[in-house]
Amino acid sequence: MDPAAEKKRVCVTGAGGFIASWLVKLLLSKGYVVHGTVRDQSDPKNAHLKELHPAATENLQLFKVDLLDYESVASSITGCEGVFHVASSVFLARVPNPEAKVIEPAVTGTLNVLKACSQAKVKRVVVVSSIAAVAVSPDAKDKILDEDAWSDAEYCRKIETWYCLSKTLAEREAMNYGEKHRLDVVTVCPSYVIGPLLQPTLNASSMVLINMLNGTHNSMENILYYFVDVRDVADALYLVYEKPEASGRYICGPCEVKLSDLIHVLRSLYPNYKYPEKFTEAKSFTLHSEKLEKLGWRYRTLKESLIDSIEFYRNAGLIDNA
Ligand SMILES: NC(=O)c1ccc[n+]([C@@H]2O[C@H](COP(=O)([O-])OP(=O)(O)OC[C@H]3O[C@@H](n4cnc5c(N)ncnc54)[C@H](OP(=O)(O)O)[C@@H]3O)[C@@H](O)[C@H]2O)c1
Repeated sequence: MDPAAEKKRVCVTGAGGFIASWLVKLLLSKGYVVHGTVRDQSDPKNAHLKELHPAATENLQLFKVDLLDYESVASSITGCEGVFHVASSVFLARVPNPEAKVIEPAVTGTLNVLKACSQAKVKRVVVVSSIAAVAVSPDAKDKILDEDAWSDAEYCRKIETWYCLSKTLAEREAMNYGEKHRLDVVTVCPSYVIGPLLQPTLNASSMVLINMLNGTHNSMENILYYFVDVRDVADALYLVYEKPEASGRYICGPCEVKLSDLIHVLRSLYPNYKYPEKFTEAKSFTLHSEKLEKLGWRYRTLKESLIDSIEFYRNAGLIDNA
């Protein structure tokens, strides 16, 4: 009998991305057979996947998938007992034609994944959402937000924060689909994800930290930031998949820091970068990740994540060794 046939088989969508690469590495280390979806197997930006872990040669199978093409999605999920839906277009800046570029891939893509999961009788689907689906509403500032909080889709549309709208609509669709079709859907909502990169291209959230170091901003709003390490996000996704009692949403943004305090810490660790000099006071929401901690999740300190991130950026030549 093929030994791989006895192993647990899961699918990870958007396998070549920042979070998904760490998740694939973790799953391979736990002995899973992983179906990783990529849009283009021959693109050098996915070349790292086969080097992630010694087991990748045998246990990582790549599938060419576009989220908007149902047949390709279904072929990657067939035979899997679990699915991690990680892929989504992450555009933090303004984007022309947001409906086609951001909203449709997120919403229709998520529905395609869920329909394929129903068809394949998948036992649990973990959907990566975001605090973008939690915290964007006119009255969120000043509030303490937990898993009951949802971003206001109309408000997102009004202020043209398309990425937040896409994550809000996609997570709502995922939850509704799960209820209606009796599919076990659990969502995880990370905050700003930092940490070392496994993939060769730079992702949007890593740029948020890099831009605080390279002089991009002279003045910034002095709000609370919530960071989480990419390796801890991978652990969280794995935990909510493995724990039978996991259900509903999980906020995953444990490291709270006011921007001026963050810059102070960074300056004490790395004095020579070009940090923002001016801070304008503004209201911010407060976020709680306790539900995930109660499930047994543990995370790195912010200082450890910052040092590991910046050391990685320096060694990779992404920032100067100032
Ligand atoms: N990083 C953060 O701070 C953060 C925070 C909260 C939530 N999230 C969520 O975490 C997930 C992963 O984010 P990330 O930071 O790892 O971003 P990333 O590195 O940009 O990865 C996104 C992945 O999604 C794939 N993708 C996008 N559109 C697709 C489509 N139409 N069909 C197939 N694949 C598609 C991308 O493939 P290509 O390479 O082919 O484009 C890429 O592999 C996303 O759902 C994001 O919303 C991220």
